[in-house]
Amino acid sequence: MTSISNKAAWVDEPQQPCVKYMPFPKRPYRLVLLGAPGVGKGTQADLLCQELLTCHLSTGEVFRAIKDSDREKTAAQKEALAYIKRGELVPDEIVIDMVRERSDCFVCEYGFILDGFPRTLPQAAALRTMLGEVDVALDAVITYELPKEVIVDRLSGRRMCSNCRTNYHIEYKPPLQDGVCDRCAGPLVQREDDRPESVVVRLEEYQESTEPLIQYYRKAGLLMQISAMGDPQSVFRKTMGMLERLPSVVGS
Ligand code: AP5
Repeated sequence: MTSISNKAAWVDEPQQPCVKYMPFPKRPYRLVLLGAPGVGKGTQADLLCQELLTCHLSTGEVFRAIKDSDREKTAAQKEALAYIKRGELVPDEIVIDMVRERSDCFVCEYGFILDGFPRTLPQAAALRTMLGEVDVALDAVITYELPKEVIVDRLSGRRMCSNCRTNYHIEYKPPLQDGVCDRCAGPLVQREDDRPESVVVRLEEYQESTEPLIQYYRKAGLLMQISAMGDPQSVFRKTMGMLERLPSVVGS
């Protein structure tokens, strides 16, 4: 079964109404996905959302939607897009404000899968505060692991539809027709931050700023470590196996 939710309130702007077309899930899951750039978080989030009937909340996706929008960009948005192009992390205060504006998604009865937030310790503290304010607890924080050379291979071969943003890989998930999206026939492009010089910066940023979150969430008793080796379906099955063993309510 395909779950289709309209994430307008997350991706476009918080004032947009959110429409759910999905049946109600057996239980809502509230998850965070961690892992280096290119490890496959977005790919797994899509599979998990279909299975768990929830929404994929990606901060990177919000930034890319801002970049592609015809609307006049604010000074903060222009600043954020310049950081992304270089492969650097966007400053915490910009990201935290952006997520706070969308925090209604945290009380969604269908749960949520956060991908790309938090990425630093101050962001993790901000998330804890935001969730505490609405009395919501995370069920788990999943960290995907992969050797660096496989990550670089996944990133260098990634192509994205410039229209509907579906991800492909030239070798592991090729489109039916070269350079054309299977879903909407839009042109496939390489992401600006997948250029080799940006990838180097992104991997360094991950090691320095995001890896400390692994210890943070381990201490909180929420961490699930999963190898991202293997095809997307096998990684997905491992993830579901671990999620199914979770008790219905875990820590905060
Ligand atoms: P974001 O969009 O979050 O990018 P990222 O974390 O770098 O992750 P990616 O989207 O690159 O990779 P992924 O792990 O989702 O892998 P995917 O599934 O696509 O952020 C972009 C930028 O925005 C950041 O660099 C930063 O500047 C800024 N930003 C965002 N959030 C921020 C925050 N909180 N704070 C500060 N700045 C922030 O897979 C990759 C490829 O591999 C695809 O081609 C896929 O088809 C293929 N693939 C996936 N799984 C497999 C598999 N199992 N086997 C073979 N191929 C596979």
